[in-house]
Amino acid sequence: SRVHSIAAIAGDGIGQEVMPPAVAAVDACGRRHGFTVDWTHYDWGSQRYRETGYLMPEDGIEQLKRHDAILFGAVGAPDIPDTTTLWGLLMPMRRQFNQYVNLRPVRHIAGVPSPLADPAGIDIVVIRENVEGEYSEVGGRGGPDGDGYAVQASRFTRDGVTRVAAYAAELASRRSGTLTSATKSNGILHTMPFWDEHVARVAAGYPDLKLRSVLIDALAAALILRPRDFDVIVASNLFGDILSDLTAALVGSLGLAASANLNPERAFPSLFEPVHGSAPDIAGTGVANPAAMLYAAAMMLDHLGETDAGTALTEAVDATLRDGPRSRDLGGAASTAEVAAAVTDRLTRA
Ligand code: NAD
Ligand code: IPM
Ligand code: MN
Repeated sequence: SRVHSIAAIAGDGIGQEVMPPAVAAVDACGRRHGFTVDWTHYDWGSQRYRETGYLMPEDGIEQLKRHDAILFGAVGAPDIPDTTTLWGLLMPMRRQFNQYVNLRPVRHIAGVPSPLADPAGIDIVVIRENVEGEYSEVGGRGGPDGDGYAVQASRFTRDGVTRVAAYAAELASRRSGTLTSATKSNGILHTMPFWDEHVARVAAGYPDLKLRSVLIDALAAALILRPRDFDVIVASNLFGDILSDLTAALVGSLGLAASANLNPERAFPSLFEPVHGSAPDIAGTGVANPAAMLYAAAMMLDHLGETDAGTALTEAVDATLRDGPRSRDLGGAASTAEVAAAVTDRLTRA
């Protein structure tokens, strides 16, 4: 039967709590849909850093190359600077594996509480540029003791904007036919008119596609006021980061939002993870919502060509969110394990 080799990196905080449910759910899918997963678990993260001074071994990226995909929990710990943890694990994977598309879909599920009075029908995909833009490595501090100023360069390239815009235009064409581009080109930044030009050039290659460029500040408001006006949104690295936490909140919780860090050419493994972080405020209490991680696992199955299994897993999570049990972030009382068991039950019974 088909065998998929997966690197599982649970990482820190609730990453440790939502990974086992995802592994169990994927294995249940495998039994049902005729494939097996060859899991390799890596103990990389903050604990390893405390013990060895490194989040992953020197040849960590090399080790990951042989896998078909990476399933990742989260990284970040209150006692270690975020620059250390993020540049020690997550950022090298996204960059060295050239995962330039970060796909962040959300859908509202009937009955799930949202801060909006009427969240029904929200179905949005944020496509975040994932390797350049505002998250450039160019910059630093200066002045007396490096305390006088800080500079951060945003670096956008023609090829970088073109390829993510093309991915977004393709997806938008297959969905609603409308693509929204998040921008800030009203005269201050040098980078955003450049972004606009290249997104517009790419979109022009799709005669049936309607492109709307919306200023990021107004877009943030419009997403809350008129969420159903939006379908696929393409955004730069930082704008996409912020918008994807916002869209997660629209459908009820950060605990619902999954993310695929894709290398569309498949030259390197892609990475699947929740949008949320290690959530130190609830870590260790067993109440984290595993839905985001389970949806991420479903996106991974789709990517591996196990589309029936991916759909089954997505539907099992949807049904559990709709009919319960629900976790605390959604107003319920169920633990991570109880939500996860309900999903796996549905997968086995379906
Ligand atoms: P966070 O996403 O970890 O948490 C924000 C809030 O959402 C918290 O109140 C948390 O309890 C809640 N929340 C998040 N996921 C949840 C879930 N599955 N179920 C229920 N509630 C959930 O963001 P933060 O607190 O700003 O960051 C914490 C750490 O995680 C930091 O070190 C940060 O750098 C890191 N981080 C890592 C990633 C990643 O690994 N991809 C992403 C974001 C943040
Ligand atoms: C995310 C996270 C990361 C990002 C942080 C932890 C660097 O917020 O995956 O959304 O900004 O990309
Ligand atoms: Mn984020």
